[in-house]
Amino acid sequence: MRPHDSSASLALVLLSSKLAHAFYLPGITPTNYRVGDLVPLNVNHLTPSQSDRDTQTRSVFSFDYYHPAFHFCPPEDGPEYLSESLGSILFGDRIQTSPFQLHLGKNETCKAVCDEQVMESRDAKFVNKRIWQNYNLNWLIDGLPAGQAYYDPATETEYYQPGFALGEVVDETPHLHNHYDILIDYHQVRADQYRVVGILVEPQSAGGTRRIGSGDDFSAEGCSSDQPVVLSEKSNNKVTYTYSVYWRPSSTSFATRWDKYLHVYDAKIHWFSLINSAVIVMFLIGMVGTVLGRTLRKDIARYNRLDQLGLDDLNGNSVEDGIQEDSGWKLVHGDVFRPPKNPLLLAVLVGNGTQLFMMAGFTIAFAVVGFLSPSNRGSLATVMILLYTVFGFVGGYASARVYKSFRGDKWKQLFIYTPSALPALVFGTFFLLNLLVWARQSSGAVPFTTMLVIVGIWFVISVPLSILGSWFGFRQPQAEPPVRTNQIPRQIPPSSGYLRPFPSMMLVGILPFGAIFVELYFIMSSLWSSRIYYMFGFLFLCYGLMIVTSAACAILMIYFVLCAENYHWQWRAFGSSGASAGYVFAYSLLYWARMLSFSSWTGGMLYLGYSALLSFMWFVMSGTIGFVACWVFVHRIYGSLKVD
Ligand SMILES: *[C@@H]1O[C@H](CO)[C@@H](O)[C@H](O)[C@H]1NC(C)=O
Repeated sequence: MRPHDSSASLALVLLSSKLAHAFYLPGITPTNYRVGDLVPLNVNHLTPSQSDRDTQTRSVFSFDYYHPAFHFCPPEDGPEYLSESLGSILFGDRIQTSPFQLHLGKNETCKAVCDEQVMESRDAKFVNKRIWQNYNLNWLIDGLPAGQAYYDPATETEYYQPGFALGEVVDETPHLHNHYDILIDYHQVRADQYRVVGILVEPQSAGGTRRIGSGDDFSAEGCSSDQPVVLSEKSNNKVTYTYSVYWRPSSTSFATRWDKYLHVYDAKIHWFSLINSAVIVMFLIGMVGTVLGRTLRKDIARYNRLDQLGLDDLNGNSVEDGIQEDSGWKLVHGDVFRPPKNPLLLAVLVGNGTQLFMMAGFTIAFAVVGFLSPSNRGSLATVMILLYTVFGFVGGYASARVYKSFRGDKWKQLFIYTPSALPALVFGTFFLLNLLVWARQSSGAVPFTTMLVIVGIWFVISVPLSILGSWFGFRQPQAEPPVRTNQIPRQIPPSSGYLRPFPSMMLVGILPFGAIFVELYFIMSSLWSSRIYYMFGFLFLCYGLMIVTSAACAILMIYFVLCAENYHWQWRAFGSSGASAGYVFAYSLLYWARMLSFSSWTGGMLYLGYSALLSFMWFVMSGTIGFVACWVFVHRIYGSLKVD
């Protein structure tokens, strides 16, 4: 029972085959069964979720199915772990074999899974607490999650949500579900060839179930009893787990069997927010267009002492005088390409941000075209890790180019920090948080071997690629800035109002956040309440809107900052555009207050830790977008000045 070793080392050695495996399209590799064939039922971890009674998620820890306190029946010769992809392990899947006997087409009623289990009072307490916290069982039959059926009145469709409840709370008393009605939809492809196309489980609490057969005969009685199983926390309890199987012929084909699981919740909200963001973006582009197209051109023309008339004719003489007076940006032309403070840090951040940006963009694009279907468990996370690794090259190159333009000379540090700073921070935090999970005996703790694999991938592939990229960047000739930098720095007038660093960050950060916050809600509920996220089309559009908004807002802000004769634009551009991360973090706190409530401080710590980590990565990524946009902008506008 050595978990995941095989697949973990596989991931390291056979990257290419993993990629090929990760990219199979859903519905290409069906399994055909004949009547009477054994269809394996595999069990995954137990996860916290919401219920009708309680819309908050109350825990962040998942538990192994064979955690001794549950007393679920193991297979006769012990459960075995199924091999999984790296991403699947990281996201908590722990899939094991089970003793359920499902024979295709053969209905069974009231079978015992194994002999009666004795549950001591301590275990009963543990299980009751998990029932209070709405824990769900997660089964997989033929790769398809066993779900419960829901009805969405908005779209008038029935959809399945993976997982079914461990128990339910009735009148403040937890009832354990010990009987499962398993409804399996199967589809006939050819004579005596069938495929599994849908799984529903209706769990029940049936007290008084009892095994009556012996040996291989697992017959039981009492499955339809309506007397619930209430676990006493004072004495030993006896529980018999039972199940019934009903095979239902279905017209759903294998290719579409996932459709019911990939339900788009509240499509209207997505569209609404998308249109909302699109309007904001239009407005912004209009503003930036005005600034760039009219004011700037006018400024440049005047500054270059060109004949003003020609341009006035073009623009129709309608430039407000107010904007013109503001345009002090040309005064700082001798300072604007002065390297910022801490050039090394900024270059390293931009390099890492570029890497994250590429990874996110490509992952979402792959997901949109359908490569990363949830039917292939963990493929999303696996692909993210691989892309991040590969884009180390781009990150290294970007950081070297930026550093070169800052005329930096600590090249050795740059080569080392670019591939190590952010990954070390992320991994360090991850490691510490994992210790918490591990201390809670949760199955969510990432196994040590998997950690080693990740460090291995990073060290063997990502670091060399990044250094290679930095080397290429380093070898590029120094790009001369369009205007010369003066010897003596200009005095900067004190800034006021919204141009001070903090207010400007708050202002610029809110619009990119506005572009993504609806999707953020759904991503969070998929992360913390184990729902499937499958709205990549929306996410793709939001990502695009977010990029445009970040860039436009940062450019506008930097234009005003330069007009106020402040030439420290580099950090300002990075920080103000990255400030949307502050909103993301604040939003995660709000989400906590609304949707989650943890009974232990470790849960809260874990949530805060991961939120802070994600927000920081978001900061680096969106900051980079703003920095690059302003970089282009500043080079453009000063490039069109004719100084001297
Ligand atoms: C099994 O049960 C289902 C659901 O009750 C029913 O539709 C189906 O006909 C049954 N199959 C057999 C072989 O009896």
